[in-house]
Amino acid sequence: MISADFIPEIKRFPVVDSTNTKAKAIAKHGAKEGTVIVAETQTAGRGRGDHQWTSPAGGLYFSVLLFPQEASRATDLSILAGVAVTQAVKEILPKMKKVSVKWPNDCLVEEKKIGGILCESLSEEYHNICVVGVGLNVNLGAEALAPFQSNKFPATSFANEVPGGNFDLEKILNVVLRKIFTMYALYQQQGFEQVRFLWERNCQFLGKKVELKDSGTQAAPIAGKFVGIDDRGALVLSNDRGEQRAYHAGEITCYWP
Ligand code: BTN
Repeated sequence: MISADFIPEIKRFPVVDSTNTKAKAIAKHGAKEGTVIVAETQTAGRGRGDHQWTSPAGGLYFSVLLFPQEASRATDLSILAGVAVTQAVKEILPKMKKVSVKWPNDCLVEEKKIGGILCESLSEEYHNICVVGVGLNVNLGAEALAPFQSNKFPATSFANEVPGGNFDLEKILNVVLRKIFTMYALYQQQGFEQVRFLWERNCQFLGKKVELKDSGTQAAPIAGKFVGIDDRGALVLSNDRGEQRAYHAGEITCYWP
């Protein structure tokens, strides 16, 4: 059982291929629940949907090992981590900044992506071990962010949002970890419903018309009103006739404010 004030063992590396890969490897050698792997840079950082996660120095890259009771509910952790990271970013940045989670777990500031989360489960043999990998753009300047400016939700960083700001990576790590362990403790005690409630409270797109595109298929984007997430963390859209449908995959590519 992990409590909200849990103090994790943190293993630090100057460079790894991917903190998620490293976390999986140590999990197989008996690492404890709550262990954290942090790296200053990654040579093969991974994002969701086969994307890379470019990881230069100045960003925060870490993975946490969590062992949920029910392996079949591992996706709960991905939603949970999205809320925790969004709460942490809200706490750190000036209050006037608009910070939101974007389904399933991206963190946006003023409609730009500041961080992402990749949750992975281990193989069958280690089926209830999950790795929650978090990437946050902290002290990344305009040059590092430039390649991502044509994205539907362009990249931003803490330093970009607070010009002249030089953020302490260690402090940010501590804030995010505290939010993750608090959220995980809540989840263990009260289940997913409370996490779902907090996720929706931290999402700016609720009630808005959005477009969902599944990059794995050639299918046209689906437009609908964003009603919320269901008890499995799936995105629920309502069509023009008011019919609701849940979607388990895809990216929100645009919205109408
Ligand atoms: C995304 O938005 O696509 C998810 C990005 C997740 C990146 C983090 S960085 C730390 C951890 N290690 C990885 O290889 N990926 C995650």
